[in-house]
Amino acid sequence: MGDLFEFHVTATDGAARTGAISTPRGQIRTPAFMPVGTAATVKAMLPESVAATGADILLGNTYHLMLRPTAERIARLGGLHAFMNWTGPILTDSGGFQVMSLADLRKLTEEGVTFRSHVDGSKHVLSPERSMEIQKLLGSDIVMCFDECPALPATRDRIAESMRLSMRWADRSKTAFGDRPGHALFGIQQGGLERDFREESADALKAIGFDGYAVGGLAVGEGQEAMFACLDYAPAMLPQDKPRYLMGVGKPDDIVGAVKRGIDMMDCVLPSRSGRTGQAWTRMGQINIKNARHADDPRPLDADCSCPACRSYSRAYLHHVFRAGEMISGMLLTWHNLHYYQELMAGMRAAIAEGRFAGFEADFHARRADGDI
Ligand code: GUN
Ligand code: ZN
Repeated sequence: MGDLFEFHVTATDGAARTGAISTPRGQIRTPAFMPVGTAATVKAMLPESVAATGADILLGNTYHLMLRPTAERIARLGGLHAFMNWTGPILTDSGGFQVMSLADLRKLTEEGVTFRSHVDGSKHVLSPERSMEIQKLLGSDIVMCFDECPALPATRDRIAESMRLSMRWADRSKTAFGDRPGHALFGIQQGGLERDFREESADALKAIGFDGYAVGGLAVGEGQEAMFACLDYAPAMLPQDKPRYLMGVGKPDDIVGAVKRGIDMMDCVLPSRSGRTGQAWTRMGQINIKNARHADDPRPLDADCSCPACRSYSRAYLHHVFRAGEMISGMLLTWHNLHYYQELMAGMRAAIAEGRFAGFEADFHARRADGDI
């Protein structure tokens, strides 16, 4: 990385690392959790509220923003940071993964992917070159390579073919990205659950050279045990001195297990999405606020949580506003969930720095109930 964009590991504990990524828009403390702001908003949250939870960086989506309101319009309006009023760093995903899960009538070729918008049926093309152009128009600080991720389970042949296409696209992404001081380009490792393909993919990415490296193609239905088995070897195939980003993960216990295995960055819609469906994540486990047993409960979600939902509102109130379909329900539960996730990250950073990650992990599991609490 150049002088404007640097990653420093300050302590390690086993495979776990803590440190910071310096960017012109501020520091990203690692391990970092990135709230998802797909459509230029972290749903139900003001940007200053997201910052107050402790988030250093947001994730945005090429796919959604290119369709609506378009990257060109956002660029005319001063870029994504100004448009959505978030001054910190933004990482954008490259679009390929979202095309495969959301778009209609997809057609994949060597050149890229043609698809119809899930919003209005209009026809669009994404390629490594167009994805780099869109992420530049948005003003993204951390740009992701354009890749493809096969749905699992898939045959070894299909996984290899897809991974090799993604590696050719990674090469084209790097060329199209060019030299942009203060902006980073991350490669994305693919290869499914096949160790030899993960190795081949890591080698291809390292030969191209990136500012950071993502582990892609996980959390796509393989289950936690299989994902952890892959994370037992995949992060070590990537450079020690660059950030490692596990895409689309996860539940709190997935996050703790990923950090233990050497992951520095993660993103997931879970804390924000489940906040809008009445699910709260706490140190003691999950709370389903729509459950009738909360109707008369004067206690907060978590008496030891300092978020606005826990400081000023009872479970009974949160139950009521959820049942009544009031907007404050999604606002308060999302705030609590994002606060909890950021507190979990801060707890892991401190534990790694003090060489007590194993104790932190044991305590994390000991507090948690399996079912709803
Ligand atoms: N989000 C979750 N997994 C992936 C992946 O494999 N690639 C991309 N681009 N985004 C993801
Ligand atoms: Zn709270």
